[in-house]
Amino acid sequence: MSLLLTSVRPYGEGDPVDVAIDGGEITAIGAGLPVPEGAEVIDGAGAVLLPGFVDLHTHLREPGREDTETIESGSAAAALGGYTAVFAMANTSPVADSAVITDHVYRRGREVGLVDVHPVGAVTVGLKGEKLAEMGMMAARLGLTGWPRAAEEAIVARDALLARDAGARVHICHASTAGTVELLKWAKEQGVSITAEVTPHHLLLDDSRLATYDAVNRVNPPLREASDVAALRKALRDGVIDCVATDHAPHADQDKCCEFAAARPGMLGLETALAIVAQVAVEPGDITWRDVARVMSEKPAEIARLDDHGRPIEVGEPANLTLVDPDLGWTVHADDLASRSRNTPFADLDFRAKPVLTVLRGRITARDGVAAAPGTGERA
Ligand code: DOR
Ligand code: ZN
Ligand code: ZN
Repeated sequence: MSLLLTSVRPYGEGDPVDVAIDGGEITAIGAGLPVPEGAEVIDGAGAVLLPGFVDLHTHLREPGREDTETIESGSAAAALGGYTAVFAMANTSPVADSAVITDHVYRRGREVGLVDVHPVGAVTVGLKGEKLAEMGMMAARLGLTGWPRAAEEAIVARDALLARDAGARVHICHASTAGTVELLKWAKEQGVSITAEVTPHHLLLDDSRLATYDAVNRVNPPLREASDVAALRKALRDGVIDCVATDHAPHADQDKCCEFAAARPGMLGLETALAIVAQVAVEPGDITWRDVARVMSEKPAEIARLDDHGRPIEVGEPANLTLVDPDLGWTVHADDLASRSRNTPFADLDFRAKPVLTVLRGRITARDGVAAAPGTGERA
């Protein structure tokens, strides 16, 4: 399949150019490129071209809770969100702790073909501390109400010290407090190999949301104070926090539409992440589209050691790309989401930016709010 994207702005910089794609790679970039024979031409209308997004933290629920998400529905949500690779966390049931399960997740992802699905086993190469920490934390957290900030910060401090003394790498999932930001800054200054992610919901929402006791706002770690949100935004801008990860956590109505304390924690994230990052960071002028490429694609790919995502937009590079309309203007409607679940706290909120085209190895996986048919990808 051959594509010609006309009038796109790589990283939102400079005059619009055309980008030719063939054989899964970028084959030419320039103004007024000739249309290659048989190529599908897509008018980019000046939209922002970015490397396809990489999500280090997604829950896809297959196997075990296919009523709330499947690899197929989650892949469609990811493609619509501009993602070309996601990491599926291991807390499925049964837990993805054996090759039988991780192989299934990987192959099913390939078969669906809308996004590269990496079972969390793949991310643990060189990151064993991370996997243990995440699984251990999840088991600890279930018994805790509210996951107090001291608990989060104690674990971040502990992991930073262990990484320092073991000379290991550590990645902190969903940083949510100003104290965690201070600890990350301290650890990085000490030369610890520490990286961290922040979720879109912790960048946008604060604990004033909890006043209604609506369980759609229940999440782990919980929504924090407005001062924490401000610290997280600043940390993302300054590079103290390395990347954005969704912690996309689909849940069934019966697990969410109940008393706050009894509800499962978690929020949908894949289809709204870019819009939120644009609203909280790009539109106010805190960061540029080039920074968005860094925090949503390049850094996560680097942390996970993916060599075919988060690449520069250059001739010869894999065509894993996302086209973002920075001024589309849209409203989140839960019923329109591709996810099988409806637990979005962003329903009825207005955003400006939206991914309008996602390309995985030269194939269109989502366009204008519609995901490509699953199963059209390459066979595993
Ligand atoms: O709120 C959350 N829900 N946080 C997590 O880390 C896990 C997730 C889930 O699996 O539902
Ligand atoms: Zn977690
Ligand atoms: Zn999670």
